[in-house]
Amino acid sequence: MRSLLITNIGELTTHSDSVLTDAAMIVTDRVEWVGSASSPHAADEVFDAQGAAVLPGFVDSHAHLVFAGDRAAEFAARMAGEPYTGGGIRTTMAATRAASDAVLRSNVERLVDEMRRQGTTTVEIKSGYGLSVLDESRSLRVASEFTTETTFLGAHVVPPDVPRDSYVELVAGEMLRACAPHAKWVDVFCERGAFDVDEARTVLAAGMAEGLLPRIHANQLTEGGGVRLAVELDAASADHCTHLSDSDVDALASSQTVATLLPGAEFSTRSPYPDARRLLDAGATVSLATDCNPGSSYTSSMPFCIALAVRDMRMTPAEAIWAATAGGARALRRSDVGHLGIGAYADLMVLDAPSSVHLAYRPGVPLVRKVLHKGVWVR
Ligand code: NIG
Ligand code: FE
Repeated sequence: MRSLLITNIGELTTHSDSVLTDAAMIVTDRVEWVGSASSPHAADEVFDAQGAAVLPGFVDSHAHLVFAGDRAAEFAARMAGEPYTGGGIRTTMAATRAASDAVLRSNVERLVDEMRRQGTTTVEIKSGYGLSVLDESRSLRVASEFTTETTFLGAHVVPPDVPRDSYVELVAGEMLRACAPHAKWVDVFCERGAFDVDEARTVLAAGMAEGLLPRIHANQLTEGGGVRLAVELDAASADHCTHLSDSDVDALASSQTVATLLPGAEFSTRSPYPDARRLLDAGATVSLATDCNPGSSYTSSMPFCIALAVRDMRMTPAEAIWAATAGGARALRRSDVGHLGIGAYADLMVLDAPSSVHLAYRPGVPLVRKVLHKGVWVR
């Protein structure tokens, strides 16, 4: 593969070294060399970053992109005072079931394209708006056209057309068998009004027996047992973590389970943000993701989530950027993305700014100038 020299990098964040200034790097599809811009190096092509900041591509480890329709009216009602309950998932289910594969595919394509333009180079995509054997499996087939990080979320809510007990049995049985060939992960919305801890354990254990790896929507709306279940099962991540007891925080801190915080959901449901400082200070690994979905967080923007995390969750810019890159990779148990150490995929972005702090300092401004994915410019 042809080599590319990126030089005159004003600030290079690799997460392997300390932040470098006046840096350069050579990449193929992987990172081959990192060093000083003044040391002479030859490559097939050269890109002059002109003093801009370069950082790893974002790893968005939590997104629900396979759906049809939107819920703008629900959002407007919420901003006028209605609470968020997750009940709107069934509205999206109806629109998703009625949509063709082509409509679902073009919606995912549009959202993945939005993400890429904002610096995301790895995205996890969940099912969860089909809620039938046919609609969950076709959702995952569509998702797998865009990413290897596909997640079976048949246990999102109980659909209105199936009794509760038989739905858990269906998800852990026939639906799982139809979906497992297209999924890497299994997820459950463990929450009051969705699935309780025992139901979640049943679904996750069945998924694990089929070779899927667990992750959980945990403690979003209430201080339930989702986080403790995530740690019990060595889940890769417990996502949301908005309502945590001290023992939840301790359990996360002494485990490999990443606390994935999704501030777009608190923003769009006007809810209190998760306490990132408490998690970080306890020693837990924190990641940031968009939760992109039509109900609780219809943003595809990792820079927006970084800005919220810094402004409203008291993460430092460096912590937020780590969480949106290396943290996302940990949440997907990946060591080949989320950093720019030698041998990592050449997934990176060049900003229209001299430092990555500008991602939080200049909220809402499209600062991602160029995006490289596996050594190929995709923006
Ligand atoms: O992560 N919490 C459950 N699932 C999504 C919301 C889905 C919806 O409201 O459509 C979430 O916030
Ligand atoms: Fe979610």
